[in-house]
Amino acid sequence: MTTPTSPPQSSRLKRTDSVGDDWVQFFATHDAPQNYKEKREKMHSFAEEHFKKQTKVVLITSGGTAVPMESRTVRFIDNFSSGTRGAASAEYFLSEGYAVIFLFRHKSLEPYMRHFSRHSFLDMLQIDSETDNSQIITVDQTKAPNMLELLKSYQTVKTSKRLLSVEYVFLQEYLYLLRAAAEALHFAGSKAMFYLAAAVSDFYIPGQDMPEHKIQSSDGPPQISLCKVPKMLAPLVRHWATKAFVTSFKLETDKDLLLKKARQALIKFNHQVVIANILEDRRRQVTIVTQDKHFTISLTEEELSHEADIEEHIVKKLTEQHAQFITENGNGST
Ligand code: PMT
Repeated sequence: MTTPTSPPQSSRLKRTDSVGDDWVQFFATHDAPQNYKEKREKMHSFAEEHFKKQTKVVLITSGGTAVPMESRTVRFIDNFSSGTRGAASAEYFLSEGYAVIFLFRHKSLEPYMRHFSRHSFLDMLQIDSETDNSQIITVDQTKAPNMLELLKSYQTVKTSKRLLSVEYVFLQEYLYLLRAAAEALHFAGSKAMFYLAAAVSDFYIPGQDMPEHKIQSSDGPPQISLCKVPKMLAPLVRHWATKAFVTSFKLETDKDLLLKKARQALIKFNHQVVIANILEDRRRQVTIVTQDKHFTISLTEEELSHEADIEEHIVKKLTEQHAQFITENGNGST
């Protein structure tokens, strides 16, 4: 169990409401998931290795979290997230020289591989030679125009061991692994960035209230009562990663609420950036909100026609802000 140790960082904005310790209760009443120790150790070694090399490290969370309805889970509550934001952003952070811990939902999109999610991989291949002894498969580059560049980038990242992918499925796993990642990155101080793009459930069924076995349809429709998931941004900023540069996301469906909610989150959690997006146009427009300003990034019609990634612009802005943050706060390792 992590116990609170340090006070919140100073803020230009005044905090308006208190943030509770409900997260302590969550970890006290839910066991660590399977393979947790192994994943935690991997993240620690990865962070340590890059800390020694003075490489900046970003933790990217990506994809939805499943909320189980039974302990021996057959059914779960899920959400829309595909992991595009996280996977695309990971590629751009890697190309900026960062090391990336990619905490992602099993079967959601992954960096580099995401480019093949909408096309059949087999349709990109052709057999060049039909002789029995030397059949060679090649890539038809008209069907995969950026394959060569992609492969080069992927191999560079692999050789430099700058990408660690860690999977989760369920909310509980995600929360445990988020805390473990934050603890692993603690020593990186201001050189660590958190980029919390996962769509984390706000509601769940606590372990003690969940039936063990599959809910029987013969018993009629279940009456399910959900509890609020503690906002983990609170302990992340206040206790686990006090010196890091933290970017969270705010997703809304109502445009009139978006900016207000993003600013509220900054005031409440006192971190560095909120990226605000609307469900339907999240691929083409986001608003970056910081403690003292906000600005919108929109893809142009031309960029849209070339299927450009808005994440390239987001990551460029954030890496600039992170560099400035490091200058202002010192290397900040603890
Ligand atoms: O994956 P894609 O299909 O590409 O979509 C990308 C995205 C829309 C999922 C992404 O851009 C995004 O907005 N992610 C955050 C969605 C979300 O959970 O928003 P929220 O308003 O519910 O949460 C705000 C922040 O609080 C999030 O950064 C989240 O990490 C954090 N949170 C949420 C719940 C919780 N219990 N604890 C948290 O700390």
